[in-house]
Amino acid sequence: MTDKQLEGMPGTNPTPPMAMPTDWKQVKFAPPTDEDMNLLAGLRSGSEPWKQRGETHAESLEALTKLRPFISVGKLNGAVCGYVTIERDGPVPGAAYLRNIVVKNEFRQKGLGHVLLDQGLAVARDMNRKTLALRVDPANGPAVSFYRKVGFTTVATVVSKKSGKLRLLMSREL
Ligand SMILES: CC(C)(COP(=O)(O)OP(=O)(O)OC[C@H]1O[C@@H](n2cnc3c(N)ncnc32)[C@H](O)[C@@H]1OP(=O)(O)O)[C@@H](O)C(=O)NCCC(=O)NCCS
Repeated sequence: MTDKQLEGMPGTNPTPPMAMPTDWKQVKFAPPTDEDMNLLAGLRSGSEPWKQRGETHAESLEALTKLRPFISVGKLNGAVCGYVTIERDGPVPGAAYLRNIVVKNEFRQKGLGHVLLDQGLAVARDMNRKTLALRVDPANGPAVSFYRKVGFTTVATVVSKKSGKLRLLMSREL
């Protein structure tokens, strides 16, 4: 029997998969476990801007190990869905510093970035900071658009010491 014939039979029409809206309120944040660190390294090395720079899994793991005290991991039903890092000090004196924010690919453009950022803002407020700063590659369009959308404005253009490339220095009040 063909699909067409099946469609015509009562009770056999294929049900389209239901789009399940994700409830981001169920995302729980915690410091990373040893097992998470490996997953986060995969997330970072597979995401822009590190992917395009050719950063390896091992290099990502090394960078994230240094950042470990500042990482909040977001988990949905126990599975890693993204992470954000907040340091008390960064390039803007007196401002907390957001160095990484990464949403797992399959969850992008569904509002999870906002949830990770809210977590980052809460951590920065707990540090008694009034401002949150970050640096972003102007070529990273999705990130620049995201930061503007959530209230960051460009305060300066700086040259990265590591790459010699231009970066936007952005900040917002908490
Ligand atoms: C930047 C990032 C964290 C945003 O997370 P997200 O969950 O996709 O963002 P949200 O769904 O909460 O917000 C959506 C908004 O972000 C911006 N945005 C996100 N992805 C975008 C894309 N591919 N193109 C253009 N704008 C994009 C837009 O402003 C969008 O608003 P709109 O839908 O009204 O246009 C995510 O794209 C990511 O993990 N990128 C890779 C890592 C990275 O570049 N991090 C920043 C440097 S550390």
